[in-house]
Order: sequence, then C-alpha cells, then structure tokens
Amino acid sequence: MLAIGSDHAAFRFKEEIKKYLDEKGIAYKDFGTYSEESTDYPIYGEAVAKAVARGEYEKAILICGTGVGISLAANKIKGIRAVACSDCYTAVLSREHNDTNILALGARVVGIGLAKMIIDSWLKAEFQGGRHRRRVDMIKEIEEKNL
Ligand code: RB5
Repeated sequence: MLAIGSDHAAFRFKEEIKKYLDEKGIAYKDFGTYSEESTDYPIYGEAVAKAVARGEYEKAILICGTGVGISLAANKIKGIRAVACSDCYTAVLSREHNDTNILALGARVVGIGLAKMIIDSWLKAEFQGGRHRRRVDMIKEIEEKNL
C-alpha cells in the first residue's frame, strides 16, 4: 500500500495519478489535500512522511507545484529519503543507490505521461545494498548526530 499526498497546486494531478494507480491495481491511502483550495505543502509532506517513518507505508508519492517544497518538508522527518524527481534515470538510481522511500513530483514541471513512467520506474527499481548501504547508513548517522 502506498501513501499519496499533494498540495492544491497538484490536486488535479494527484487525481490523475490515483486513477493510474487504480488501473494498475496499486492500493494507496490519500492524505489530501482534497480540493484546489489554497493550502500549504508542508502539511502533507509531514503527514505522509510520518506515516512512512512509522512503518505504516513502505513508500509514498508526494506532489506539489515543483516537488521541491513537499520533498524538503518530508526530508525533515527522521528515516525519510525523499527525492524530487523529473526523470526516470534519477527515479531508478534514487532507489538503487539511495533507497529513497518517497518520490516527489512537480505537477507544474512534468507532464502526466512522464509522471506515470517515473512512478513505474521508481516502484520497480530495488535498492542494491552493498557499498550503497554504507552510504545510506552514513546519512542515518548524520540524522542521529544532528538532532
Ligand atoms: C504553491 O504555489 C507552490 O509553491 C508549491 O506547490 C510548491 O511548488 C512548492 O515547492
């Protein structure tokens, strides 16, 4: 089960992504926002990231205008590695090397077709471990040292 969330700028985009996930038979929980009324992306970045950090969801998709603000908010939560991404190469490598657990997309940056390909690539790619685990562990140490 995935968690998904967005601000108002990406509300319609999120609805499109939800339709796509439905078609693919991928279950998700929508953390909002639920309309185009102006709101603040940190609310959704934090709520979704906390749910992932608690282990309730293995992975999540966050969407705002650029993918930047909502990923910055999510990355403040311990254990979260969110990537703001607009290409498939970064999506795949962020899983293989960085073990990202949140994919952030910019509704004003990528078209819906590319977004679907990015999501497919990101969901399919697996963390490669090995030397990459050591580096991800180093990121975790930074979190521990700098509370
Ligand atoms: C909202 O206008 C916009 O700032 C937000 O969606 C996002 O792009 C922030 O990073």
